[in-house]
Amino acid sequence: MGKDIKKILILNGSPRANESTTILVTKAFVDGIVSESKAEVEYINLNDLNIKPCLGCLSCWGRTEGECIIKGDDIEMMKRKILEADIFIESYPLFFFGMPGMMKVFTDRMLSMLKTYRGQKSPVNGESFHGIRNEIVPKFVVITSCAYTEFGPVYEPLIKQYDCICGKNNYLMLFAPQLKTLISLKNEAKIKKHLSKFYDAGKEYALNDLKLSDETYELLKKPPFSEGAYKIFLDNFWKEEKEKGTK
Ligand SMILES: Cc1cc2nc3c(=O)[nH]c(=O)nc-3n(C[C@H](O)[C@H](O)[C@H](O)COP(=O)(O)O)c2cc1C
Repeated sequence: MGKDIKKILILNGSPRANESTTILVTKAFVDGIVSESKAEVEYINLNDLNIKPCLGCLSCWGRTEGECIIKGDDIEMMKRKILEADIFIESYPLFFFGMPGMMKVFTDRMLSMLKTYRGQKSPVNGESFHGIRNEIVPKFVVITSCAYTEFGPVYEPLIKQYDCICGKNNYLMLFAPQLKTLISLKNEAKIKKHLSKFYDAGKEYALNDLKLSDETYELLKKPPFSEGAYKIFLDNFWKEEKEKGTK
């Protein structure tokens, strides 16, 4: 499969854009794919785009059939790029158990890519609630970091949201708990080891028909620190931050 991957599009949805730590694991994963495919890669910072919020007019579901009536911003360009890609990756931190606000604005504008709602029943086979308008769409991957250790309950709302929008079987979500702390501690050896897990996973994904084994999936979501050690790091971090404020 690897050699059939021609284009990977990555949308960096962290408001910290070039400072994002999430994008580091995303890059490692993408580099792993590229090592087996030589795919062309394009990174776009959501921060750099002009994306207006959805007006809620539902024209794209009726009058204009798949086209948004908001003209002159970057959504049309993004839709074109998404449909040209073989793999589309959204990379962002977890904010309040969901996606950051600017990612939600972007996601709302994707309504025109979904089929018109005509009273469909809840899907039973892991499909999207609405269905996707285009027959050929890229493989969709979400890579998201968070600060919590107990990331299972923390990610439930986001997973549920993507299950409804895309359908359970139509996307892959990779998690990176405790990532910002790992990066900020500057332990190069530990960071390298952590990123190499994502690189190897990218390789596997490219070679294994754009799928990950359960074993790799579980390995990626394992937090880098024990609960006890992490609590100490966090306490120290906030203490130092507070001290900075008093200087
Ligand atoms: C507004 C806000 C809300 C957040 N909510 C959560 C949360 O619900 N759960 C969590 O584990 N981390 C939460 N975090 C922490 C971020 O997910 C974490 O710092 C992330 O790794 C930063 O990623 P980045 O470096 O790519 O921006 C939140 C951070 C902010 C600023």
